[in-house]
Amino acid sequence: MSQWLNLARAAQLAGVPRGTLQRMIGAGELAAFDGLIDAAELLRAFPQLKLEDAGLFEKVARIRDESFGRRVRERMLPSQEVLAQRLFAQGQELADLRRLVQAYHALVVDAQARLGELAADDRRLAGLKGMLDEGLKRALGAEPADRLDAMVNVMQVISAQVTVLPSGRHFLVEGNDSILQAGLKAGMRFAYGCGTGTCGLCKARVVSGEVRQIQHSDYPLSEVEKQQGYALLCTHTAVSDIAVETLEARGPGDIPAQDIVATVRAVETLAPDTRLLHLQTPRTNRLRFLAGQSVTLGIADANGDATQTAALASCPCDERNLHFHIAREEASPLAQALFADRLRPGAAVSVRGPSGDFVLDADSARPLVLVACDTGFAPIKSLLEHAMAGEQVEAFDLYWLATRADGHYLANQCRAWAAAFDNFSHRLLTDAAPGAGAWQVTEAVVASRRELAQCDVFVAGPAEFVQPAVEGLQGAGALPGRTRALVL
Ligand code: FES
Repeated sequence: MSQWLNLARAAQLAGVPRGTLQRMIGAGELAAFDGLIDAAELLRAFPQLKLEDAGLFEKVARIRDESFGRRVRERMLPSQEVLAQRLFAQGQELADLRRLVQAYHALVVDAQARLGELAADDRRLAGLKGMLDEGLKRALGAEPADRLDAMVNVMQVISAQVTVLPSGRHFLVEGNDSILQAGLKAGMRFAYGCGTGTCGLCKARVVSGEVRQIQHSDYPLSEVEKQQGYALLCTHTAVSDIAVETLEARGPGDIPAQDIVATVRAVETLAPDTRLLHLQTPRTNRLRFLAGQSVTLGIADANGDATQTAALASCPCDERNLHFHIAREEASPLAQALFADRLRPGAAVSVRGPSGDFVLDADSARPLVLVACDTGFAPIKSLLEHAMAGEQVEAFDLYWLATRADGHYLANQCRAWAAAFDNFSHRLLTDAAPGAGAWQVTEAVVASRRELAQCDVFVAGPAEFVQPAVEGLQGAGALPGRTRALVL
């Protein structure tokens, strides 16, 4: 029996990003019908696919883990209760199928016997019986049901699929993740606040399927809401494949202003004059933001209190851990405190925001052309990680110009992306001055022969880089409505 898989499940089985399958479908290398892929067709396109080949999946997952910081560190099984419920549902389905097969079997055996009796005196019926016997022999002797069936069943026990309405997006809930956690990791822009069942902002209606509470909640859902199927996404996981109705943020206007006191988790040296500032929000007060946005950081420094706007370098899928790339600069009070080691792990930093519209178009699957100069790489990295998590974007081209002695301080990160995503390409360029470098970058983009009018273009860096780069790229075909710039 043919199994139809949606893109998320098919990609999970094949161990490739969804974008890879989308490209194969677009190129006619993989047949799909209404967004669904026949399991047999998937097996044809990935003939090496078998359970032992999970290594491929593991490899991609491992590289992504490294790329995304705190992504899923290990693929864990769900809790015993959830596992038991999923196994029970699978067992029921198996029992139903077994009953059905037994009934068909009895029917065929009976028909065969009757036909045998009648065929004794009738040559035409004898011929028909011969055809039936031959057909049955062929059917029963054929390859056992393709191994994808077994794999799909295993995947359904390990993970459940969530369909978000009305957008129709899909993602998978794995391990002990709540629906909210899994959704954020998959690049969904859900509404949420505390992440711990207190604020009620993640309330959503479960339209079909079964969910289970995995975390205590203080937020009181009314009886009417419970009857209507409402549940908190942060305290529930999916037991079976489910559909949930909830609003997703469309743009910066849908993200509320927040005031949070975070703690310095770590300060790392990325290069002699570039440091990574890693803040962590309280468990009950996470920062909701869109990839590419900035926040205003406030520090109480020995040299006086100071505030400074900084671009987030991390993915919204890891909403408690906020990363910033800070360059050594005389005029920056934050950099002064950081490089003088006055801002240390444990220190409190106020976070206000988010701000800025340097964000991805929620519905766009167009290729991304991402252009950064020096620490302009930070917001570009945030965009890239979010787009990769969402697996919606067709391709990513990164151009990173370094004009400082620190060079491409996260070149390893770029190489890790290139190894994990076959739709990612990157060019690392150097130039003594941002203005001259902007033209070098433009030439490199033009040489790639990417049709810029079909792309979403993002440019981030110092003003003397951003302005000529935007002019150059728009002169080469980038559309103003699809070009976003961020001056740092
Ligand atoms: S995010 Fe606050 S209750 Fe779920």
